Amino acid sequence: MLYSEKVMDHFMNPRNVGEIEDADGIGEVGNAKCGDIMKMYLKIDNQVITDVKFKTFGCGSAIASSSMATELIKGKTVDEALELTNKAVTEALDGLPAHKIHCSVLAEEAIKAALDDFYKKYPEGK
Ligand code: FES
Repeated sequence: MLYSEKVMDHFMNPRNVGEIEDADGIGEVGNAKCGDIMKMYLKIDNQVITDVKFKTFGCGSAIASSSMATELIKGKTVDEALELTNKAVTEALDGLPAHKIHCSVLAEEAIKAALDDFYKKYPEGK
């Protein structure tokens, strides 16, 4: 089987899909080669990620990666979320095929972009 059960589960039943209207940080990234786009919304209180939602226009691995990434940072501090790597996302999914690793990179980048946006809006944190 090319994809792990976890990848299939997060692809078929993605967690935290949607958007947050009054988000404290929004990040959008894309991959020029495959054309996939990922958008992350963060709600932050006391430097803790209290809510996170995503929208991914992309492949199944990108959807599974963003779903897993949101689960991994929900309830974590901003500093912890900044340390999330695509490797951690891939491991949590029990692996991705080599040509799909870039999909997990997109998830890492989307979170970093949303946190960047957060610090632009709230340089002192929130
Ligand atoms: Fe590009 Fe999955 S094929 S994000």
